Amino acid sequence: IRVGHIKSETLSRATARALSTTTQVNKNVAVLGAAGGIGQPLALLLKCNNSVTNVSCFDVNPVTPGVAADLSHIDTKSRVTGFVGSDSATMEEAVRGADVVLIPAGVPRKPGMTRDDLFNTNATIVAQLTAACAKAAPNAVVGIICNPVNSTVPIATEVYKQLGVDASRIYGVTTLDIVRANEFVSVLGSQDPNDVHVPVIGGHAGVTIIPVLSQVQPAGCIDSLNADEISALTERIQNAGTEVVQAKAGGGSATLSMAYAAARFADSVIRAMNGEEVVECAYIKAENLPGVDVDYFSTPLLLGADGRVKENLGLGELNQFEQDLVSAACKQLAGEIKKGVEFAANYK
Ligand code: NAI
Repeated sequence: IRVGHIKSETLSRATARALSTTTQVNKNVAVLGAAGGIGQPLALLLKCNNSVTNVSCFDVNPVTPGVAADLSHIDTKSRVTGFVGSDSATMEEAVRGADVVLIPAGVPRKPGMTRDDLFNTNATIVAQLTAACAKAAPNAVVGIICNPVNSTVPIATEVYKQLGVDASRIYGVTTLDIVRANEFVSVLGSQDPNDVHVPVIGGHAGVTIIPVLSQVQPAGCIDSLNADEISALTERIQNAGTEVVQAKAGGGSATLSMAYAAARFADSVIRAMNGEEVVECAYIKAENLPGVDVDYFSTPLLLGADGRVKENLGLGELNQFEQDLVSAACKQLAGEIKKGVEFAANYK
């Protein structure tokens, strides 16, 4: 089973033109919010993925046809189409035929803001866009990047429910938390980042982000860290997004590392669709998960060929420090999930 497998492969594929070897099945991917800070580099990475046949770029920003034209001149296999508009017919057109839809639409944080501060603007955007997915691409995997992920995934799930569509292919993309944890651990443990795998469970905001450092691979690579250092590393992973927001000083949040992470998530989903056994952590509806008393939670997931979760691998063995983190995460998640569900109930 491959856990978080691409890393350097993503970028080498972006530069190594069409070393098409074992890829059997081709896939259509749509990016909603494709003109944004994440959307543009994400569409670029997808354009360079040999498993992708079509990249559909949708945004409300009129620059979008230009972004699509620009990408379409890259000599890789996929075709690129641009869609612009704010009406549901255009949104539906953009996702029709998609196997994977990624949603980085929405406003990002500025210094001093929490992800929850984005709720009022982004909740409506996610509801609109996921309604279009439910209607025009009901079997597509939908990866929600738009924050607050802890609430926008419940919104999407409820929108699907209201429209009578199976919501089991909706994923909150938390891959950036894993990418960051892998990178920080590889530096501290003097490892090649390609070999490092840190499961990150919980949600995607502050204390809901739980790096499970006791389960890090290669086992023992950060055994030299004492309890204070483990605690500091945990906090750094939890606050890494804020580190970027502050460094960009009002210019937005993580875009390049997020695009990389979302491209990895999409690639994992496509590999699973093509029959590989792939594990990724993602934030999903997961009722009755042992050790957790909320209905949405991120854990390592064995992805299935049909785009659904084949097996939820659960929390695994946690030490006391990590169990306390889960308790704190669940407390915060409960309110953020409820907020999303309530928003969807009143959304027309
Ligand atoms: P950005 O402002 O650069 O781009 C957002 C894009 O969405 C813009 O092009 C805008 O025109 C577009 N947009 C707005 N409403 C839309 C709609 N109804 N339909 C289609 N497109 C629409 O923002 P950036 O930096 O790309 O961030 C996007 C989102 O991703 C934010 O909500 C941010 O918080 C989130 N994010 C999530 C991360 C994660 O780990 N899940 C990490 C980093 C950011």
